[in-house]
Amino acid sequence: MRAIHVVDHSGPETALRLVDTARPPQLAPLFSDEMPVRIAVHAAGVTYPDLLHTEGKYQEQPELPFVPGAEVSGTVIAAPSESGLAPGDAVAAYCHHGGWAEEVLAPASLTYTLPAGMDHDAGAAMVSNYHTAYAALVLRGGLTAGERVLVHGAAGGLGSAIVQLASALGAEVLAVVSSSAKAEYARACGARAVFRVGDEWRRQIKESFPEGVQMVLDPVGGSARSVDSLRVLAQGGRYVVLGFTSGEISQIPANRLLLRNLTAVGVAWGDLTFGRQGVNASIHEKLEPFFTDGRLSPLVSDRFELQDAAAALKKMASRDVIGRVVLLVR
Ligand SMILES: NC(=O)c1ccc[n+]([C@@H]2O[C@H](COP(=O)([O-])OP(=O)(O)OC[C@H]3O[C@@H](n4cnc5c(N)ncnc54)[C@H](OP(=O)(O)O)[C@@H]3O)[C@@H](O)[C@H]2O)c1
Repeated sequence: MRAIHVVDHSGPETALRLVDTARPPQLAPLFSDEMPVRIAVHAAGVTYPDLLHTEGKYQEQPELPFVPGAEVSGTVIAAPSESGLAPGDAVAAYCHHGGWAEEVLAPASLTYTLPAGMDHDAGAAMVSNYHTAYAALVLRGGLTAGERVLVHGAAGGLGSAIVQLASALGAEVLAVVSSSAKAEYARACGARAVFRVGDEWRRQIKESFPEGVQMVLDPVGGSARSVDSLRVLAQGGRYVVLGFTSGEISQIPANRLLLRNLTAVGVAWGDLTFGRQGVNASIHEKLEPFFTDGRLSPLVSDRFELQDAAAALKKMASRDVIGRVVLLVR
């Protein structure tokens, strides 16, 4: 089958090769003792960890060479009988590795029937962003309807999923983004007010919403942004840490937590859910009606052929992406 290999850690431009390689081995456990689903991949998501893999900077380092690609959309070839899936079903799945290939194995508990009306390109942008959004807002952040939340990187893959889900769950959403095109998309996702990155967003939010926000969700990070986020929180507010696309891991001053009973909360979706079939199923059950009624709708900004994976990574890292980049596999 055609696949992309990461062959070394020399960076996105030189570390990838299009190869003809063996299909993944016969059905074998992936997470815990779970039997996987074999999927013919139609589209594969391009995510930040894929970029880090080419640089050897991801926290987990698979043995080289390996097929990257954490999530896919495609057609079931074979599935364990207890999964409720059957050959020919259209599915979206989180596979962790191996998705940039014509076939992949994914855990049954992270493989979901493609919602009605969703195409495969969007399906490849569905699982990790929206499941993480739920984990952040509800499981870790404790969102209740009517709360005001601020979302950083609100037009990115994860940020836009958080804006859509928070709106669907009845929150009032404020957003921070870096361009007018991103501001327009954040509004379309449900943000009531959008602010531009730079020195001014904190002051503007303080002026417009002097009572503050109950929760800040931050996939971007950096110490200055984190401290300003603590400053716009209302008393008892929660600062939810999701990632560091800014390239800087935030340092959080503990005195700011103490002064107004704030909480800093980390979110690691994989740590919460991998191998815990019941948790995954219950998250998806909550999300599915919103996919079906269109309130949750992944945006695919750019599509690349499998052999152009390096260009796809470059695009994803460029900061001008709105939504998700995907690879078209077949
Ligand atoms: N904790 C978890 O469980 C979990 C799960 C999934 C993903 N993540 C992480 O969440 C982060 C966001 O993922 P994503 O898919 O939303 O990423 P993304 O779409 O590529 O980027 C999110 C946003 O980061 C902002 N950004 C700020 N500085 C940037 C820079 N120097 N380069 C690129 N972007 C920059 C951009 O917003 P503006 O231009 O508007 O500032 C961009 O839209 C990643 O670090 C990912 O690994 C964490």
